Amino acid sequence: MKQVYSQVSTVVPKPFVKWAGGKRQLIPILNENLPKTFGTYFEPFIGGGALLFHILTERNAQKCSISDLNSDLVLAYTTIRNRIDDLISSLKNHERNYHKDSKSYYYSVRESNPRSEIEKTSRLLFLNRTCFNGLYRVNSKGKFNVPLGRYSNPNIVNEGNLRSVSSILQASRVSIKCRDFEAVLRDAKKGDLVYFDPPYQPVSNTANFTSYTNKDFTDSDLERLADLCNNLDSKGCKVLLSNSDSKQVSDLFSGKSWKVKKIQANRSINSNSRKRTGHFELLIKNY
Ligand SMILES: C[S@@+](CC[C@H](N)C(=O)[O-])C[C@H]1O[C@@H](n2cnc3c(N)ncnc32)[C@H](O)[C@@H]1O
Repeated sequence: MKQVYSQVSTVVPKPFVKWAGGKRQLIPILNENLPKTFGTYFEPFIGGGALLFHILTERNAQKCSISDLNSDLVLAYTTIRNRIDDLISSLKNHERNYHKDSKSYYYSVRESNPRSEIEKTSRLLFLNRTCFNGLYRVNSKGKFNVPLGRYSNPNIVNEGNLRSVSSILQASRVSIKCRDFEAVLRDAKKGDLVYFDPPYQPVSNTANFTSYTNKDFTDSDLERLADLCNNLDSKGCKVLLSNSDSKQVSDLFSGKSWKVKKIQANRSINSNSRKRTGHFELLIKNY
C-alpha cells in the first residue's frame, strides 16, 4: 500500500491555509529536485506545507519534522491532527454566524482573542477563508490586521480536506514544533533532507512585504540561514532551498557545494491581480 491517505479519505490532503509564498504551483519542479533517498524530512519554515503534504501522500510512513515561528499556525497543525471533530463543529458555528452578517461578524472575530486551542485554530482558519486575499499579516504587536475580503460564498469549513489532513498527520510520523529555523541544526543527521522556504527579501523597495509574525525576516536572518546551510552541508545533510532571484542570495550561495537554478514561478498573493504574473526565483541544493 503506497498512499496512506486512501485508507481513511478519498480527498488528497493539501494546504489547509492560503499562505503567502505557498509552494503548491511549484510542486512538480520541487518534486523533480528531491533526492532519490533521504532519512528524516525537515521543513523549518512550514507555512501551508505544500511540499510536506505532497511527500506524505507519496511516501508511506516518511518520518518528518516540521516547524515555524508562527505559533498560531503551529497550533493549527496539532489541533487538526488531535481534535478534528471539535474543530469542525467550531468552524460550522463561524460559518452560520458569518452568513447572518458577514461584515460585523468578521470584525468581531478579528478583534477576539480566544484562549482555547479549538477556538484559536478555528479563528485562524475562519479569518484565512474570509479575509482580503487570504493573506496572513500582523502588525508590530502581532495582531492580525487584514480587512474583510469580497467573497459571496467562501468555503469556511472545507471539511473533506481538513479530515484528510488530520488523517494523514495521525497516520504519519510527523513532529510539529514552534521554533526558530536554526534549531534544525541540532536534530538533522547525515542523510536527512532539509527544505528551507523562508520569507523572501522584497525584490524592490515598493514590493509587498508580508509579515507572518511580529518579527520581520531581516538580512541578518538570511545570513544566519546561509551559515546554517553550510553547517548542515558539513554534517552530510541534503539541503534544498527556495529563495528570491537576487544578487544577495546568489552571492551567499556561491560556494562550491551549491547548485543554483533559476526557475519560473507564479506569485498568487498580490493585491493587484495584474501583478500576479510569472517571475523567476532560485532553487538551490547541495546534492
Ligand atoms: C514563505 S513561508 C513558507 C511557505 C510554505 N513553503 C508553503 O508552501 O506554504 C515562510 C514561513 O516562515 C515562517 N518564519 C518566519 N521567520 C521564521 C523564523 N525565524 N524561523 C522559523 N520560521 C519563520 C513564517 O511564519 C512563514 O510561515
